[in-house]
Amino acid sequence: MSINMSTAYTVDVDYHELCGALAAKSMQPLWRMASTLLTDVPLPTTEAWLWKWQTILPLAKRAGEVVTLDRGGDRRVLALANPGLDGLPFTSRTLWSAIQYLGPHESAPAHRHSPAAIRFVLSGSGAATSVEGDACTMAPGDLILTPNWNWHDHNNAGDEPVVWFDGLDLPLVSTLETIFFENHPQETQDIDGANVSQDRFAAPGLRELGVPSQPAHSPLLRYPWVDTDRALTALQQRDDRPLVSLEFTNPTTGGPALPSLGCEMHRLRPGGRTATRRTTGSSVYCVFGGSGTTVIDGEAFEWAAGDVFVTPSWSRVDHQAHEPADVFAISDRPVLQLLHLYAEEELATPQEVERTFVPAGPETVVAEAVT
Ligand SMILES: [Fe+2]
Repeated sequence: MSINMSTAYTVDVDYHELCGALAAKSMQPLWRMASTLLTDVPLPTTEAWLWKWQTILPLAKRAGEVVTLDRGGDRRVLALANPGLDGLPFTSRTLWSAIQYLGPHESAPAHRHSPAAIRFVLSGSGAATSVEGDACTMAPGDLILTPNWNWHDHNNAGDEPVVWFDGLDLPLVSTLETIFFENHPQETQDIDGANVSQDRFAAPGLRELGVPSQPAHSPLLRYPWVDTDRALTALQQRDDRPLVSLEFTNPTTGGPALPSLGCEMHRLRPGGRTATRRTTGSSVYCVFGGSGTTVIDGEAFEWAAGDVFVTPSWSRVDHQAHEPADVFAISDRPVLQLLHLYAEEELATPQEVERTFVPAGPETVVAEAVT
């Protein structure tokens, strides 16, 4: 059995007519687009960008006043939309990041979805994220996982707003056309206990005997700041380089906490610039404390606490702190490593600083709102 190569008719057209005929039949000639499809190096449309906390926070507060949380709205989330992505609400082609604001005594209803998410708490206390019956305390600096298809809701029993950084693999899952979403039948899910995963899995080298762990993600759902801070302090005392970094891992495998999102914490001491590096894949950084400058492909981005910035794939990146600084980051590195697409290199010489990024400032908010 073979494919029949004979046809009942012939096509007698010139080059331009051939191209037109292909387009009319939903085909495209590779020879006209090969150089844009198969580039020598990654040419991301994701732009290096930065959002200032002093711009985000007033808008988040105002959203807290004018946007109520109930079924349909569900979440008070300000997505950080990269201007290079044609209006998509994504921070890079693979990463969603946002600032979420939960007012005093508010709850964001329970649901689950196929994209996985992390929460990194920036300010406020008294809130908890419930994940599959485990009420994970949210304190500044804590990392909370809401793995894919895990029921989750956010509840603020405190008297002050709680604000956190959201990171999701939503753009990647959307590209793979595998989005599923479901509301929980109850407004908030039933709770088995508080910080249960910590009791079972957070002690170094120890876990509760006989408790199974999920193969798809870390069974530890809350990584408290006190542990992260202690580990960073210990590392920095042994190291005089400008940067020490931690990866949040699955304690049962040593692999990434979530299979699709790399989570990192970086501590910078003031002084010199880090070596200029570039990696495949994008990263989104959220400044937890301190201030500094990150140079991305020759452009200087000045940052301070609460600011968020994104580094595109294969961009040249180096950091410099102006004061002791802690910076949380997410990346798509675990996916790239799984696909054998992860690459990194350290450049022999520091990159030149050619220009300085000018972020949207808070002074423009009112004017833009009026127009
Ligand atoms: Fe969610």
